[in-house]
Amino acid sequence: MKNIVLIGMPGCGKSTVGRQVAKTLGYTVYDTDKMIEQAAGMPISGIFEELGESAFRDMESAAARKVAAENHAVISCGGGMVLREENMTHLRRNGIIFFLDRPLSAIARADLSDRPLVQNELERLEALYEQRVALYRSYAMHIIDNDASVAEVAAELVARYRKEQEDESTHFEWPESESTR
Ligand code: S3P
Repeated sequence: MKNIVLIGMPGCGKSTVGRQVAKTLGYTVYDTDKMIEQAAGMPISGIFEELGESAFRDMESAAARKVAAENHAVISCGGGMVLREENMTHLRRNGIIFFLDRPLSAIARADLSDRPLVQNELERLEALYEQRVALYRSYAMHIIDNDASVAEVAAELVARYRKEQEDESTHFEWPESESTR
């Protein structure tokens, strides 16, 4: 079964919804920000301050390559994962990509104090959303509106995932070169 890859803005609920989805399916959950923090031995904000954003993006690409090799995984991506096409090429090879879209007013009410690029400011959030939304949409195989409870949103995502996996398994065709005699 393919991995579930969650993309979207900081604070859109990728980690929370991802944990619930993983619990429902019995999958392992990976969070690329956490992987990077563990590998670097410092928080994301420290990496931005001490090493700079481009070093962080290199670590993020390394995390994408590593986690894309997993199976039966729910992968919560940092909001900027979509900025490098190569990241999405890796993740999509064995993954179904879901864009979790949450109203910015709800994101702004969440605690984003540890997110260096937004920090609860609606204007900065709006500017980032404008820059990113086309990318999120273009990579998404499904767009899930995160405007209900965690349980409801996770259930919707799981239903779409199961449907897609079923559709894939019913579309099997024999390879042309294979002889059946
Ligand atoms: C970022 C989002 C953050 C984190 C880093 C950069 C971004 O992850 O990777 O602060 O560029 O949008 P979350 O989306 O989990 O907050």
